[in-house]
Amino acid sequence: MQPRAIRSYVTRAGRLTEAQSRALQQLWPRYGIDFQPQLLNLDQLFGRQAPRTLEIGFGNGEHLLERALTSPERDFIGVEVHPPGVGHLLLMADRANVTNVKLIAHDAVEVLQQQIPPASLDEVQLLFPDPWPKKRHHKRRILNAGFAQLVASRLTASGRFHAATDWTPYAEQMLSVLNECPLLANCAREGGYAPAGEVMARQATRFQRRGERLGHTVHELLYHRC
Ligand SMILES: C[S@@+](CC[C@H](N)C(=O)[O-])C[C@H]1O[C@@H](n2cnc3c(N)ncnc32)[C@H](O)[C@@H]1O
Repeated sequence: MQPRAIRSYVTRAGRLTEAQSRALQQLWPRYGIDFQPQLLNLDQLFGRQAPRTLEIGFGNGEHLLERALTSPERDFIGVEVHPPGVGHLLLMADRANVTNVKLIAHDAVEVLQQQIPPASLDEVQLLFPDPWPKKRHHKRRILNAGFAQLVASRLTASGRFHAATDWTPYAEQMLSVLNECPLLANCAREGGYAPAGEVMARQATRFQRRGERLGHTVHELLYHRC
């Protein structure tokens, strides 16, 4: 497969704390899945059959860990390219001794294309993706028509895709792209944003809190596979 020309992130060296650096070495064998262009056997990976959530760009992982702790009946896969965030989540996961989380430190688009089997996820979450506000950078936004189809193809027949952003122009683009996706149906009445009551209560993510401090409106979008 050809490497993608445009990515939704730029590789930042990022400052790893000593503890994060140690975690990346010592805890990776317990929680990490190396990227390989080969489909994963998710039942084997988690040692059971359970509903599965994949979170794209989990940042520092607080939200993912909280969900894993409060939903022990589900399994969670987190995908993130920023090493300090991965190290942070590894440390928290180890401290909490969770057994239902696995991490992949690689581009989520390639992970979905090459590692995640079709119709294998019950839920995909994309929370506060980089908004790339400048017009010349819009092409870097992860959510586009191809991405919507890719995510939808990895959902089970009853699977759901949940996205959120505090950047209104991006929210508008998400809404129009997702409403156009033939494999997804909007859960909200009249094809709009999901009312707060329809989206599962969850811990605010770091970027959500930042957006709220700046006075931004948070838009949530909820779709099911059709
Ligand atoms: C704006 S931050 C939001 C982080 C977190 N979801 C939150 O709400 O606090 C976006 C995150 O997505 C990650 N990211 C961007 N593109 C990605 C990709 N293609 N694959 C995996 N992670 C990605 C970035 O490294 C960054 O941590």
